[in-house]
Amino acid sequence: MNLPAPPWICPSILAADFACLGDEVADVLAAGADTIHFDVMDNHYVPNLSVGPLVLSALRKDGIDACIDVHLMVKPVDRLVEDFLAAGADFITVHPESTEHLHRTLSMIHEGGARAGLVFNPATPLSALEGVIDMLDLVLIMSVNPGFGGQAFIPSSLEKLRQARQMIDASGRNIRLQIDGGIKIDNIGAAAAAGADAFVAGTAIFGADNYAATISAMRDEIADA
Ligand code: DX5
Ligand code: ZN
Repeated sequence: MNLPAPPWICPSILAADFACLGDEVADVLAAGADTIHFDVMDNHYVPNLSVGPLVLSALRKDGIDACIDVHLMVKPVDRLVEDFLAAGADFITVHPESTEHLHRTLSMIHEGGARAGLVFNPATPLSALEGVIDMLDLVLIMSVNPGFGGQAFIPSSLEKLRQARQMIDASGRNIRLQIDGGIKIDNIGAAAAAGADAFVAGTAIFGADNYAATISAMRDEIADA
């Protein structure tokens, strides 16, 4: 698939109205979203349960052909990687703690035709990047502990973004640097200034009355950063 040019706004479906998810996804895309961020939680790796590959398949069958980036908060992860590849994921992003063999997991994602992301919890050091950065298309910095929408942004994430930006630039690869958790109009500029070029937002977008105005205000803050 042809990907949009960064910066990307990536609404998290976790904050959408699940009773009409297809319409919600179509609405944020019409409002200017670049990817749909699809949060998968298993009540084991994180203490919450969300949605699985059937729901992604349903969105594809409903005609959603935009880029969908799947954030897997599940352990073990490999079995579900297969299912999300089959369901039509464009990006699959995994936590290093969720697999015994990260290189194999990332290889599976590529062999299945998707792009691969690696995600860092607030307490996970970036050193896990070193052995696998050549396999990555996306690095995701968590600015909350994973498991729930609506949490407060952890300020130390900005320094982590700066470090990740340096590592990505040094790699010379075309890797998106995504931030996830507590992103709103009033802090998205700081994340952009720290090097992020893809911005997940759940509550701030789906909780707003006007999706297009919110996404547009976010873009203005990024442009001014
Ligand atoms: C948290 C998820 C996030 C979350 C973001 O575990 O990975 O994507 O839905 O929601 P907000 O933007 O409300 O913090
Ligand atoms: Zn997420």
